[in-house]
Amino acid sequence: MIMNSLTPIELYGSDYYFLQNFKNDQRSIAIDSIRKDFPLINKNINGHPLIWLDNGATTQKPRCVIDALTTYYKEYNSNIHRGSHTLADIATKRYEEARRKVQQFLGASLPEEIIFVRGATEAINLVAETYGMKNVSYGDEILLTTMEHHSNIVPWQKLSEDTGAVIKVIPINEQGEILLEEYDKMLTTRTRIVAITHVSNILGTVNPIDQMIHMAHSKGAIVLIDGAQAACHLSVDVQKINADFYVFSGHKAFGPTGIGVLYGKKPILEKMPPWQRGGGMIKNVNFNKTEFNKLPEKFEAGTPNIADAIALGEAIDYMNKIGLDKIESYERALTQYAMESLSLVPRLRLIGTASNKTSILSFIIEPYPPDKVANHLNKYGIATRAGHHCAQPTLERYGLKSSNRASLAIYNTKKEIDLLVKTLCSIK
Ligand code: ALA
Repeated sequence: MIMNSLTPIELYGSDYYFLQNFKNDQRSIAIDSIRKDFPLINKNINGHPLIWLDNGATTQKPRCVIDALTTYYKEYNSNIHRGSHTLADIATKRYEEARRKVQQFLGASLPEEIIFVRGATEAINLVAETYGMKNVSYGDEILLTTMEHHSNIVPWQKLSEDTGAVIKVIPINEQGEILLEEYDKMLTTRTRIVAITHVSNILGTVNPIDQMIHMAHSKGAIVLIDGAQAACHLSVDVQKINADFYVFSGHKAFGPTGIGVLYGKKPILEKMPPWQRGGGMIKNVNFNKTEFNKLPEKFEAGTPNIADAIALGEAIDYMNKIGLDKIESYERALTQYAMESLSLVPRLRLIGTASNKTSILSFIIEPYPPDKVANHLNKYGIATRAGHHCAQPTLERYGLKSSNRASLAIYNTKKEIDLLVKTLCSIK
C-alpha cells in the first residue's frame, strides 16, 4: 500500500487537487485545468497518454508561450532599439517589458540588472570570462559544490587554467546535503568566487543558498547561483538572498529554448568588461577606440533573441498567474509522495534524499542498466532521462556513472507517479 502523506482525500480523477498542510490553510490548484494549457501534455506517445517526467531536461510549453512566438513573427517582427518605425517600436517595447517581467520575477531592483543570454550555460561563461578574468588571479580560489551541473564546472575550469586559480569542491553527505562546516573551513581570504546550484539536477536538493551567500560575503567572495533547476519550482528573491549573480534558462521554466537570464548586481555588472562585442553594445565606434553602451546593452551584442525573450515573459506571467508559492507547495508534496511510492519498488535505490528537496527523483534499479529502465518506461509513454545528466561528479559521489531520473513540474499528478511506479515494477 502506498503511503499517502499528502491528504486523506482521494486526489486523482478529481478536477481539483487539495493539498493539506499549506502554510495558509487549505488552498487548491486546478491541476486538470493547468494540464489543458499544455498541448503536448495531452498527446499520446507509443499508444499511451504521455507522462512527461523529463522536466529537468526541459519543460513543456503552455499555449500562451507558443502563441507569443507566432504572434511576434506574424504581427510585429522587427529588430529592436534600432528602427524608426512602428513595428520596431512595438517589438522594442515588448522586449523591454519582458526584461521588467524577469526583473520582478527574480526580485531584482533594476531592469538593467537583467541580461538576456542563450541560457544558464552562456550566463556562467559570461561571468567566468568577464568578472572572472578581471578579478581572479594566480593562487585565488573558486569554490564549487559536489553537485554542480557541468555548466557550473567547466567554465570555472577554464578560468582556473587561464589564471592559475584553484578550484575547491565542497563535499556533500549521503543524503545529498552540503556539509556547511566543511564549506566554512574552505572559505578563505583567497576565495574569490563561490558558484552553487540552487537545486541539484540529480539530487533535487534545495541548497541553503542564503546562508551560503552570507558566509561567502563575510570572506569577501562573490556568489553565483545556478537557478536552472529552481526557476519554475521555487520563488526567488535575489535581493533577499543577496546573490551577486543568478542565472537560469527559459526552457526549463515553460519558456522557449535559446533564451536565458543573467542577473547581476548593477555595481558589479558596471565594472565588468563587456563579453561579446559588436552592434548594439556600443555607444561610439571609430577605428581607434570604442566606447561601450550602458547596461544592459553592454552585454547584449548583436540582434538579441527577441521573440524568445518576449515568450519567456509570457511564461513568467503564466507562472505568476498560478502563484510560485502554490507551485512550490504542490511540487514539494508531490515529490514527497513520489519518494514514498518509489521506495516501494523492489531493488530501487533513491539517489538524493535531502530533507529540503523538490521535483527531482533519481534512482537505479538493480540489476537493470538505466537506459533499459528508461526504454521500458518509454514503451508506456513515460518520458524520463537516463545517463549522467550532465553532472558526472555528482553521480561519482555515489559510485555511479549513470542513473534514471524522473523530474516533476506543476502539471504532473499523483496518478502519473502511480503509473510510473507500476510500470517500474513490471520491468523484467
Ligand atoms: N541540464 C539538463 C538536465 O539536467 C539538460 O537534464
